[in-house]
Amino acid sequence: MTEIQDATDAFRKDLSSSTFVRAMVETGVRPFYRTMHMTGAGEAVVEGRDVVMAGCNDYLGLSTDPRVTAAAAEALTRYGASCSGARTLNGTLPLHGELEGRIADFLGTEAAAVVTTGFQANLAVAAMIGRGDIVFSDMSNHASLVDGIRLGAGRRVLYPHSDTARLDTLLEQATAAEPTAGKVLVTDGMFSMDGDLCRLPALTELAARHGARLVVDGAHDIGLLGPGGRGVAEHFGLMDRVDLFTGTLSKCFGSTGGFLAGPAHVVDYLRYSARSILFSASMPPAALAAGIAALGIAAAEPWRRRRVLALAEALRAGLRALGYDTGDSVTPVVPVLIGDATTCALMWQALLDEGVFTNAVGAPAVPEGRCVIRVTVQATHSDVHLERILDAFAAAGRRVGLVPELPAQAVAR
Ligand SMILES: Cc1ncc(COP(=O)(O)O)c(C=O)c1O
Repeated sequence: MTEIQDATDAFRKDLSSSTFVRAMVETGVRPFYRTMHMTGAGEAVVEGRDVVMAGCNDYLGLSTDPRVTAAAAEALTRYGASCSGARTLNGTLPLHGELEGRIADFLGTEAAAVVTTGFQANLAVAAMIGRGDIVFSDMSNHASLVDGIRLGAGRRVLYPHSDTARLDTLLEQATAAEPTAGKVLVTDGMFSMDGDLCRLPALTELAARHGARLVVDGAHDIGLLGPGGRGVAEHFGLMDRVDLFTGTLSKCFGSTGGFLAGPAHVVDYLRYSARSILFSASMPPAALAAGIAALGIAAAEPWRRRRVLALAEALRAGLRALGYDTGDSVTPVVPVLIGDATTCALMWQALLDEGVFTNAVGAPAVPEGRCVIRVTVQATHSDVHLERILDAFAAAGRRVGLVPELPAQAVAR
């Protein structure tokens, strides 16, 4: 490497400014970048050890479903590993059109466009926020949606998480100051760290009253919520009040890939204007075929949604009985409030020692000092898995001092 005088070296950056990462280094705990793979039905192997998988977004348990993996294998053999190019040029297979048709049918929109990741679907939203437009964004929106609106040319206004009264005021002020500006509201449907839902009824009312367009990122909720699994909008009976959906295949649909779904003229515009679509290689064959198979299974097997939601309810009840705070979660994402980064690191390790893999989450994903262990369940978890997760929280909590020790006679029994 070239020698650069220390003070002016742009590469003079390290991780010590993150209290969370510092706590991991100081405790010797490594919750991140562990090598693992799912082995099916709610289990995984983490660096050679069999564990209960309670830290992934495969809510419906489809990523290892034999029908999904067989479809992926067949597409891989037939079309190869990659399209080696962007959609616009050489990167469009019949499978792209088929998946887009299935997504549009499923959501009841005029059209859909698939992109290579959900992150890129949200980056594409930038194309809808032109100079002179104003975008209003929930402060807890996912990083990809945040980056998408940052890339847009319009002005950004942030509102505190789910504070629709404040949003109303901000919309009023914006209309008074810039009466000709186009307005766009963007929100996650289901928030990925807290497991709560956006206040869609209030958001649709505000959008209508202020003449704003509404974009909902259904990454976590499409496939999971609502009588037909169409997500938060169906859950609230408001499918036709959302102007544009973004989403991913990497959570409920056991694959990898993203999509945008809405009116045909908007989707067409995005196909030719969104840089994350235009300038990136298209979804690969195996991921497309896996997504198509998983969409079909998710629609045909509603027991998966019911099962995972019931498991989440039982998990929250069990954790609360142990004295844990699970916040506002109403979904399979259950954050367990731990507090400081060091305790969170130790708790994460103690849970792994008990044979349960979870996610340790610290700032900036959550506010400083409010670290959580994020637990997720899957439709394919058995009742025994659930018991093992709760037993692990009891034992690990005792070890770390979050759960009181059992009285002596209880131990003796
Ligand atoms: C709310 C939300 N939107 C978008 C994404 C990005 O999806 P993908 O993993 O397909 O890039 C995520 C991923 O974690 C997410 O949680």
